[in-house]
Amino acid sequence: MPAKPARNRRLAPSLTNSPARGDGQAMAGALRAVNPAGVVCLNVRFRPKRDTRICHHHTQLPFGATLLRLPTATGATAMPETFAEIRLPTDELRDDIPFFTKVLGMRMDSIYPADDPSVAVFSGHGLRIRIEKGTSEPPGTIRIRCEDPFAFADGKRELMAPNGTRIEIDELNPPLVLPETVHSFVVRRLADQAPWIIGRAGMQYRDLIPDRLGGSIIASHIRIPDGGPVPDMVHYHTVGFQLIFCYRGWVDLVYEDQGEPFRLHAGCCVIQPPEIRHRVLYASDNIEVIEIGVPAEHVTTIDHEMVLPNETVNPDRLFQGQRFVHHKTEDAVWQPHPRDGFQCRDTTIAANTGGVAGVQVLRHAEENTDVIPTHHRHDADIHFTFVMDGKMTLEGEGREPHDLEPGDAFVIPPGMATRYTNVSNDIELLEVTLPG
Ligand SMILES: [Fe+2]
Repeated sequence: MPAKPARNRRLAPSLTNSPARGDGQAMAGALRAVNPAGVVCLNVRFRPKRDTRICHHHTQLPFGATLLRLPTATGATAMPETFAEIRLPTDELRDDIPFFTKVLGMRMDSIYPADDPSVAVFSGHGLRIRIEKGTSEPPGTIRIRCEDPFAFADGKRELMAPNGTRIEIDELNPPLVLPETVHSFVVRRLADQAPWIIGRAGMQYRDLIPDRLGGSIIASHIRIPDGGPVPDMVHYHTVGFQLIFCYRGWVDLVYEDQGEPFRLHAGCCVIQPPEIRHRVLYASDNIEVIEIGVPAEHVTTIDHEMVLPNETVNPDRLFQGQRFVHHKTEDAVWQPHPRDGFQCRDTTIAANTGGVAGVQVLRHAEENTDVIPTHHRHDADIHFTFVMDGKMTLEGEGREPHDLEPGDAFVIPPGMATRYTNVSNDIELLEVTLPG
């Protein structure tokens, strides 16, 4: 069996293969980073399509305001050109100019009035700021993310601008750090739990590992009662491992470099290798999936550039060492499982992730109906099981037995002796281990 992973595993190297982000996305990120109490000032210039009249317009709009194409005097549609500025206060503009230009490497775009400047506009790093004397908003915080923080601002990670704005310098693509697993014996029963949590887009969530083992894993039971088109965008997750197992119903999905969209049926699963672009297209009524994510908290990024399906078809492509897997029930090969009375179908996920994780479906082994199960121990870091069908009793060493039904889930810590008894013939278990 593989050794227990080292503490604070750094799974993914610096994600330098990420596509360059557009300025708009970088700016949106920068805007979110600034104190929301700040004021955003939108400068709008209308560039007419067909006539030669140019109107310079200057206005202030709150966050979230939308500017629409406006007709010109001749009725032609104008294409508005829009710049958002974050306004920051200052007492003495002349102190700020060298800081924002020389230290932060921004450029000064405008300054006025000439005799006694009170406003200066700087742009750079996807951000545009307007520093103005006598304004009342707080000075806020600017986060600058760059590929090499040590080559920026003399390697300082925190600075204070003369106007009071705090500057944080961070890595553009920080390596993924997996927290140390906090082992515990967890039994999550469907019947005992609070109602489903209503999430985004009508999706309902059950948290199957509430303590998340110290942040090392999230396991969710997700269902969508009303199927139909899913309002999703092409996106990717910065993760160490991610599994989508279709428990009930079906869902249409499309993945980067994996060809045309396909339907994921009940009993089948996919893994989403780190940063693979994908999109959920359509779901059946009453679809239910089990989603596993490692670590529990990870960043999801929208890719505004990629259209799926894309032209390249390369199923062997490695995404940070992992190959995309679509495991289908009809491809299953059943084999013995170490637990007495069980057999399993392997999803090939361990082989295709380089051993990051293993995913198996367990069922009753008919030839072993009379076997009295012995206790079993594992030495995986994480061992998660979801009861998909049938009934069984989970007996843990020194613990009260748990009678389990479909929808129940449990985590067994390494080294703990357990056995499955009173197993019904229709038992079906989803078993996920890390490493695989
Ligand atoms: Fe996703």
